[in-house]
Amino acid sequence: MSLQNDLLLRALAGEQTERPPVWLMRQAGRILPEYRAIRSRLSGFKELVKTPELACEVTIQPVDLLGVDAAILFSDILVVPEAMGLPYELIEKVGPRFPETIGSASDMKRLHAVDPEEHLGYVLEAMKMTRSALDGRVPLIGFAGAPWTIFCYMVEGGGSKEWSRARRMLRSEPALAEDLLDRITEATIAYLNAQVEAGAQALQLFDSWAGALDADLFERYTMPRLKRICDEVKGAPLIVFAKGAGWQMDRLASLSCQGLGVDWHMPVSEARMRAPHHVLQGNLDPSVLYGTEAEVRAATQRMLSDFGRGMHVANLGHGVYPDINPDRVRAFIDEVKQNAHSEGVN
Ligand code: CP3
Repeated sequence: MSLQNDLLLRALAGEQTERPPVWLMRQAGRILPEYRAIRSRLSGFKELVKTPELACEVTIQPVDLLGVDAAILFSDILVVPEAMGLPYELIEKVGPRFPETIGSASDMKRLHAVDPEEHLGYVLEAMKMTRSALDGRVPLIGFAGAPWTIFCYMVEGGGSKEWSRARRMLRSEPALAEDLLDRITEATIAYLNAQVEAGAQALQLFDSWAGALDADLFERYTMPRLKRICDEVKGAPLIVFAKGAGWQMDRLASLSCQGLGVDWHMPVSEARMRAPHHVLQGNLDPSVLYGTEAEVRAATQRMLSDFGRGMHVANLGHGVYPDINPDRVRAFIDEVKQNAHSEGVN
């Protein structure tokens, strides 16, 4: 069945589109009262993630309520470490927590290889259901965390500002770190390919904590795994978002993925110069959405003109904050859509 709105897929294929497609990282979530209503009836976040009918419903909410050009499956990057043998908890107002972590070679005994059907079947089921329920309205995006970002949670056991424990392992136990990163990479490749098989039409790899690494660590530990994922995941265009690593854009531009995410710190002109052959995604500072509607519209216009026409997927420079007024999100989306017919955006 053909898509009614295939802007995202055409843009990621490098085609010149009438306007940039627009979606938001973290669009399926707490910004919507309709999400919070469903969430409040449940025992917790994991129940939502593990119940395909509900994951499907909240995935489609932003398509109906905000008018985005793509749906991103409601799930989390932390399902992969759980599938490998380290369960996570999500603690209200605190964030993710792993009761068991990886700190030494003996802890690796907790881990096993991931069979996506067996260990992540609930995600694949939600993907199939959502693809069918979308009925071709917009493309469906699948995702995973990048190996370094997943490694951070498995080693630290929760969020961190600087990820010093995870970085310590890279420095003091390189062989163990390489082994863990390779196992995550294997699981991620299998998982992303299984998502494509289940109906994902585009993919995003979130390297949310890439910015914690210096150039040497980034090159040694992250680049080879990103390259493997880009080369071994087939069947859907892939966007790699290495948050905080815009200064590594020339290295990221060597990857075979179609899209590169740009965070709001990165000057767009520099990203373009360093990655001339990739579609760029981003990059409005999410805090702009705390401003007035007029401010949101003006900042969105500036962003669009920075990117110029083509090779652009409009998005924020990171996930939308949960306390943003959905009307400001709608203003952002509307402003991108208004560009459809206005010439001379460049
Ligand atoms: O983007 C979407 O709309 C799809 C759903 C999605 C979630 N998490 C839902 C979620 C996606 C793509 C993610 C990815 C994710 N998860 C990342 C990478 C993106 C990024 O923001 O950098 C990371 C680092 C995580 C880990 C994670 N999950 C954290 C740090 C938290 C707690 C912080 C928070 O936002 O509350 C979560 C929980 C989480 N994942 C929520 C949602 C909607 C909040 C859960 C709730 O309803 O209480």
